[in-house]
Amino acid sequence: MSAFAYRDGRLHAEGVALETIAETCGTPVYVYSQTAIEDAYREFAGALDGLNAKICYGVKANANLAVIRTLARLGAGADVVSGGELARAVAAGIRPADIVFSGVGKTRDEMAQALTAGIGQLNVESEAELAALGEVAQGLGASAPTALRVNPDVAVDTTDKIATGRYEHKFGIPIEDAARVYRRGSRTPGIRMVGLAIHIGSQILDLSPYRSAFAALSESVRGLRRAGSAVERLDLGGGLGISYIGETAPGLGDFADIVRDTVGSLGCELVVEPGRRLVGNAGLLLSRVLYSKETPEKRFLIVDAAMNDLLRPTLYRAEHEVVPVTAPADGQEKRRVDVVGPVCETGDYLAQGVELPMLEEGDLVAIESAGAYGAVMASQYNGRGLVGEVIVRGDAHAVIRPFQDPAILQALDRLPRWLE
Ligand code: LLP
Repeated sequence: MSAFAYRDGRLHAEGVALETIAETCGTPVYVYSQTAIEDAYREFAGALDGLNAKICYGVKANANLAVIRTLARLGAGADVVSGGELARAVAAGIRPADIVFSGVGKTRDEMAQALTAGIGQLNVESEAELAALGEVAQGLGASAPTALRVNPDVAVDTTDKIATGRYEHKFGIPIEDAARVYRRGSRTPGIRMVGLAIHIGSQILDLSPYRSAFAALSESVRGLRRAGSAVERLDLGGGLGISYIGETAPGLGDFADIVRDTVGSLGCELVVEPGRRLVGNAGLLLSRVLYSKETPEKRFLIVDAAMNDLLRPTLYRAEHEVVPVTAPADGQEKRRVDVVGPVCETGDYLAQGVELPMLEEGDLVAIESAGAYGAVMASQYNGRGLVGEVIVRGDAHAVIRPFQDPAILQALDRLPRWLE
């Protein structure tokens, strides 16, 4: 994470000291480096050069308008999974024609919203959804550019909750049914079949499942073409992993080689949907120490961020590096602690058993690699306000979502007449 580095013993995001952000914006707060996002995008785009591939950023990883706009300005499209994300992508400046709508459960309203906006592609994941999309499109006098998401029944080595490519998962149409359903789509009024889509999981570190999945996809394309169907586009999904605590992130050049070897000669337009890889290492969660305490078993560092702000550790047992914002002096003693928040659950931890120097009330810590699936998964659990977000560019920083006062949520509640 070179965008975040110590300068004169103080952790900075680009040119801005995190202390300054904590003082001016409060904590807990997510801090993103715009330069790191731009660099990640350029690296990805560079690796795919010559493959006729469009990068449709997986908005679910970080849906802040400033983040999406940063990527939009570099030429990214978007992959969205709800009407809400679609609206964000459009508001951030992505042309609807460059947007792909994924997900197993699009409602008819969302389909209509997408078609009315002029979306580039809808990825359909079941025959029932295909029929519904045809009806909605016909009702609007539209023709829905449709890709069929296939499930290749390929295992990936990632957390079970985010693997998506086996038949036990809810995603896609079993690959052996793809040809039949594709032809059905081609005959369905309101549907214009444009291609096939696939997404086998997330935080993938070993690239070999991609090779199997894309090879199977290529077989399907050849089969469909032999039977007379046109397949113009292949959407290869996202899933490329990042380094959280010293793992080796897969090389994008190696990924591009797999794409080239497996589907490169089909003459299809390609789409990729990276989320985490573009933004994950470009953000951290900045938090202040409230207290420390010891039990006969453990030491706890109680900070002001909690599971409602960053759910990944407790939900996936995900590990994030936690570092002090003031660099420890050489040889300073470290202690093993659990970093926990104020939420009333034992599962409310941000890191367990990590080595940190002795920290005191008021000190700041950074929970790293939190740019993806951090703020977007935050909640107001325990009556806590939604966490804020800040972006840094060079020496400038800006609040891109203020901390949400819990009163805002409370004001939305209504008492029924019999409780007034
Ligand atoms: N395309 C589709 C259809 C997806 O379902 C996803 C992620 C992506 C693209 C982007 O995947 P990425 O490149 O970010 O791996 N909340 C979990 C991750 C869930 C991923 C869901 N789908 C986490 O915190 O690890």
